[in-house]
Amino acid sequence: MDLRAGRFDGQMTDDAAAFSSSIKFDKRLFEADIECNRAHTTMLTEQGIIPETAGKKILATLDKLEKEGLDALDLNPSFEDIHMALEDYVTKEIGSEAGFMHTGKSRNDQVCTDVRLTLKWEIENTIENIKAFIQTIVEMAKENTDTLFIAYTHLQHAQPTTFAHHLMAYANELRRDCERFMDTYKRVDMNPLGSAALTTTGFPIDRQRTTELLGFSKIMDNSIDGVSSRDFAAETVFDYAMLSTTLGKISEEIVIWSTYEFRMVECSNQYSSTSSIMPQKKNPDIAELARGKSTIAYGELMTILSMIKGIPHSYNRDLQEVSPHVWNAIDNTNDILRIVHGMLSTLTINKERTSELAGVNFATATELADVMVREKNLPFRTAHQIVGRIVSDAIDENISVNEIDDDYVNKVSVEITGEKLELGEELVRQALDPLLNVKSRTVKGGCAPEAVIESIEIMESFLNE
Ligand code: ARG
Repeated sequence: MDLRAGRFDGQMTDDAAAFSSSIKFDKRLFEADIECNRAHTTMLTEQGIIPETAGKKILATLDKLEKEGLDALDLNPSFEDIHMALEDYVTKEIGSEAGFMHTGKSRNDQVCTDVRLTLKWEIENTIENIKAFIQTIVEMAKENTDTLFIAYTHLQHAQPTTFAHHLMAYANELRRDCERFMDTYKRVDMNPLGSAALTTTGFPIDRQRTTELLGFSKIMDNSIDGVSSRDFAAETVFDYAMLSTTLGKISEEIVIWSTYEFRMVECSNQYSSTSSIMPQKKNPDIAELARGKSTIAYGELMTILSMIKGIPHSYNRDLQEVSPHVWNAIDNTNDILRIVHGMLSTLTINKERTSELAGVNFATATELADVMVREKNLPFRTAHQIVGRIVSDAIDENISVNEIDDDYVNKVSVEITGEKLELGEELVRQALDPLLNVKSRTVKGGCAPEAVIESIEIMESFLNE
């Protein structure tokens, strides 16, 4: 079967043929291309557009090919793409009747149908994998609702929290990543088949039928749009890029937390490397690579956006080059997701160290100011000034947070307001206690164990949806 035999008297140069063939990355479309041909042939037969005997033979051959697998195809780059390789296979099996398969169909609508089908499967798979990761995080959070942890802003000590509270931040980010995929899915799940080259066909094809057979939710309403648009691919890759951002951030924290200076967590040996010269080293290479590889999807997104920018309607061959970048973004992000899942689930937390960090370096200062507002009706700005001065005096005098008592607070408040605050020893002690700080933040979304347990429950009902 030679596609060029009618129009041309010869072949492309080998170089031009290889340059234009998509066969290498079309392997990804193998299953979808069988589905697409099967649905189209079934519909053509039902509509009486092609002879029933030919339709049956084509369908049986597609079943055979599906069983034999991709290796049964001749993937010679002299075929422009997998659609031609598949048609060649059917032709070799049943002869020229194979040609009925392409009635009222173009590779233009076929390829974007295949890409959409494949992307639906990829998205479903990724959603499952994100949910499994969230499930692991939820289990870890349940074990750590009382585990003191230090939270940072600007990577400086900010306020005490719990490890569970921090973990549930990951879970909520991942949930949005998941929901973003679910939303994108709606725009991927639309059937362009039947658009043919660009204006549909004069044959009485039944697009509703192929939509059902292929399991799409909707028909694309305009055939020019059907074959031209790749916004669904760009959007999907954005979702992978955003997911890789979440995973890269988690990895970055594992890198920092596992340093000697922080010592908050330790990576499992299975996710660590050593040095070829420094025998003492335990390096978080896997986390670093997850952080580094998370940029790959961004590059692919920019490539795709640049490719689809400014090309006219409808099909242009440029669109072929979008696909490999989509697959690369997906494969890379899936790798990162799997590895970060494994790495986080095997992380050991150094609870002694994290509770030490939660209690030092004036991380409880905000609560002391809040107590002044609550108990003494001080405007927050005045309380903020008093506590700021307490901290700077204490640092100058080399006094640790545990040594700050009611007298110290009174001394500074006299300096600032002219009056003693008289909070009393108990209130000062409570305000500066990291565990009590955490327990007081019972507001929705807060770090108190009951608030985190509530957020875990919300997450579990999302997972069970
Ligand atoms: N390999 C092509 C692609 O991926 C299929 C469509 C080819 N259409 C054409 N008119 N040459 O986009």
